[in-house]
Parts: sequence; C-alpha cells; structure tokens
Amino acid sequence: MTDYHNEQPTVFVLDFGAQYAQLIARRVREARVYSEIVPHDVTAEEIERRHPAALILSGGPASVYAPGAPRLDKRIYELGIPVLGFCYGMQLMALDLGGDVPHTDIGEYGFAELTVMEPECRLLDGVAATSQVWMSHRDSVGAPPEGFLVTARTATTPVAAMEDPGRRLYATQFHPEVAHTEFGQQIIRTFLHDIAGIPPVWTMVNIIDDTVARIREQVGADRVICGLSGGVDSSVVAALVHRAIGDQLTCVFVDHGMLRLDEAEQVVRTFRDQFRIDLVHVDAEQRYLSLLAGVSDPEQKRRIIGEEFWKVFFEEATKLEGVKWLAQGTLYPDVIESGNKTAAKIKSHHNLIPFPAGVHFDLIEPLKALFKDEVRAVGAELGLPDEIVHRQPFPGPGLAVRIIGEITHEKLETLRRADAIIREEIGEWDTERSVWQYFGVLPDIRSVGVMGDERTYGHPIIVRAVASADAMTADWARLPHDLLAKMSNRIINEVEGINRVAYDITSKPPGTIEWE
Ligand code: XMP
Repeated sequence: MTDYHNEQPTVFVLDFGAQYAQLIARRVREARVYSEIVPHDVTAEEIERRHPAALILSGGPASVYAPGAPRLDKRIYELGIPVLGFCYGMQLMALDLGGDVPHTDIGEYGFAELTVMEPECRLLDGVAATSQVWMSHRDSVGAPPEGFLVTARTATTPVAAMEDPGRRLYATQFHPEVAHTEFGQQIIRTFLHDIAGIPPVWTMVNIIDDTVARIREQVGADRVICGLSGGVDSSVVAALVHRAIGDQLTCVFVDHGMLRLDEAEQVVRTFRDQFRIDLVHVDAEQRYLSLLAGVSDPEQKRRIIGEEFWKVFFEEATKLEGVKWLAQGTLYPDVIESGNKTAAKIKSHHNLIPFPAGVHFDLIEPLKALFKDEVRAVGAELGLPDEIVHRQPFPGPGLAVRIIGEITHEKLETLRRADAIIREEIGEWDTERSVWQYFGVLPDIRSVGVMGDERTYGHPIIVRAVASADAMTADWARLPHDLLAKMSNRIINEVEGINRVAYDITSKPPGTIEWE
C-alpha cells in the first residue's frame, strides 16, 4: 500500500475485485476528497494505523456465497470509521452483521426506479422520492442486520438502501458511482461531507502544492532529468517538477521525426520559451530514418524506435553532470494495475527502463497518485497549452505506425500535411471533444485518378476517427457527410501525391484503432 498523500483526509475504497473500485475512487476525487484503492483483505490494524476518514466497500462480481468469495476483516465495522457499501459491499455488510441475504436466482440488471421510504434518512438526504438508479446484482439483502433502517426499495429489491447512523454504517444495493444513477454523485457527496465530515479540500491548487512539496522533499538539492515526448503525462511531469525545483531540472526531448505537424516546435516553444526549462532538443530524424530504411514490418518498426529512444536519451542524460533522479509520468491506474498480480505481467514494462551498464537514476513519479483527468487539470492549472493538455492518445512510435510499409521523409511530410487537415477540420466541428481520436493513415498502395486533364497515379489517405471511452473498444465516428467531403477536397487539392481519400468504417473489435 502506498502512503502518497497521508496528510490529506483520505477515503479508502476497498476493492472487491471490480473495475468499479477505480470508478468509485474517481468519483470521490470529483467530490474533492483524496481517495486510494486498497485490497479488500486489508486488516483492521492497518486501517487504524493509516486512519482513513471513511471507507467505501466496492461492488464485485462474486456472489457472497461463492467459494472463495472476497471477505472483509469484520473488526473494521467496529472502528467507528464511517463505512459505505455498494452492491456486493452492502450484501457483505448485511451478512457480516447478522442480516439475511437469501440465495435467490432473481437478479436485477440495468435501470430501476428507486423509492425513498424514509425521507428523514441521512444518506439519501435530498434524493427525490422516486429516481432512477443503476443495478447489477444477483443476491440481495432480505432483512437488514439489527439496528439498521431500510431507507429505499425498488420493485424487485425490498432493501435497496439501509443505514445505521449510530454505528456510522451505510449501504446501497445500487451503484451510486455509475453515471446512470440520477442522484449518485450527490449520495457520495452526502456521505463524504455530511456524514463523514470530510471537507472538500482535494482541489487542483492543493494537489499541486502537495505534489510540489513532496518533490522538493524527495529531491533536495539534486538534479533531475525528464524525458519529454510532447504527450500529456511527460509534459505535466516536467511542468510540475520545474515548479518544484526550477533549474535543477533538465528535460530531454528526443524528436524522432515521427511527430505530427508543428508538434516538435510546440514542445520547444512551450518548455524552452514559455516555461524557461533547460531543454535538450535532440533532432534525431535522420538517425531514425536510416535505421528504419527498408523496414516495413510493424513490430520491427516499433522495436527499433523504442530501443533507439532510450539510446538517444541516455546518450544525452549521461552528458549531464550529477543527475541523480529520472522523473517519469506513471499514473495511478498504472500503479493499481501493477499491484494486481494478474495485470502485473502486462503492465510491468512501464517501470522497466533499460538503463545501460553502469548507468542508473532513481525514479521520481510525481503523478503516481493521479487519474488522467486530474493530470490534465493539473497541466491546465500550470499553464500548459490546450493542445498538450487535451492531446489525443498518440502512439510512442508516432506516424511510423500510420505509414504502412517503409518510412521515408517524403511520406512523413505527406502524411503530416494530410493529417493536419483532418485534425483542423474535425477539431473545428467537434467542439465538445466527442470524438476520441482522429488522424490520417498513409497506406502503401497507389491508384489511378484524374486531375484536370491529367491522369494521376497517387496514394490514398485513409481518415480514421473513432468514438471510445478507453480505447479498449471503439466505434467509427459518424461524421457528417459534408465534413467528410470537405476534408476529402482539401486533402486532394492541398497535398501533393494524394489522389483519393477513404474513410475507415471499422469498429474495434474486429479492427484496432491504429492501422499497425
Ligand atoms: P489500438 O490500435 O491497439 O490502440 O486499438 C489503442 C490505443 O493505444 C494507442 N496506441 C499506442 N500508444 N504506444 C502508445 O503509447 C503505442 O505503440 C501504441 N499503439 C497504439 C492508440 O493510439 C489507441 O489510442
């Protein structure tokens, strides 16, 4: 377990094996309270030692009766710390404290109408007499433990919420953390602020002050190096570390030449000119292009670019005197996932920095307590430009995985210009940022066309635009035909060598977002 922000009042979200725990932790942070996810088998002693201000028991996929179903150290209910259980967490609370949880096969999934039965109750204070909630459960509580009041029901769930204010125990069968639950965030806020008495102090300014203080304490008078890619995470790390220790920081920007139009210039403008950070800009395009000459296999491209990045980075890093620390943009979800044994294999590469023989830096990871939306908010607060703060996901190997086949300087220039038009046009139309990612792909084929009186034999550009929540699944964006028509015209007229534009209408799965 981590002690990142111990001086902040902290809520522990006890993880009963659900992706819900992360969502709950984010909702708590949205209520301006610092939260951490802890394993469900945390002991009462550990809880006492770390004195969280409140506990939330997450939902989970298991039935409380399943063999090996995750349990809670029951002494935790006796600590006097406010506890709120959701779904599985509620069933467990009922079972542990002597309530009745009948083993039924009647589940409830999706929307349900919640009826508040006790307008005077504490947790549902201010929730409308009837409202929409989100349910996803099989077992449910038949009768609450002694001392509990049933405060709400739905058509199929007689105990949809219960509370024992004397013991500071509260629970809901539905999921307040899910956006479909109408008063969900309000219930979470009532629990945190009114019931547990936690003030909403986890604000951007506090996050920054806290992190800055931590970096100063950790680093002292040492020098720090940070690799910049132009992405959100490394940019925010650089800006934060710079805020903390000023010119003890040197940033190394390895420009592999595979960035989009104006991105490299933007990195230099932002960090060298605006922030006045000591920035080493390594223009390595030629070096990369010669390594990539003749290479068309996507995996080989990725490998070459990845390995070369670290080579260039360490060449520069070892030129600097007396650097002790390497700052890295690890985020909280990476930490949670690495802590989970099964996910560790997939994610462990995050921390496997290939230090060359005889070279070592200690790591500082100033973002490791933050979720991505918090990282963006910190970036905005620190004055990073919108283009960086709201940058779309962009592969480390950059345009190399969007040029199918061999990479040349000319192809990079062609794709950059077409991609800039795509970004400009969709960006102007998508003011709400509803499209997750959009870009151009340059395939290794040519086709016949005609322009004016001339026959052409040029490349097509494929426009890719997807809607997604997390890039795990995605659907092609339903862009207006007029927008597609305008992009097509502009690309063909403005980008030499392109004579066709196609729109990719493949979802993920079966496709991936990128083409390579
Ligand atoms: P796919 O193509 O697998 O992409 O559907 C899922 C998300 O990951 C991004 N992506 C990458 N990001 N290095 C990265 O940092 C990579 O090599 C890489 N490949 C894909 C992709 O843009 C999408 O958001």
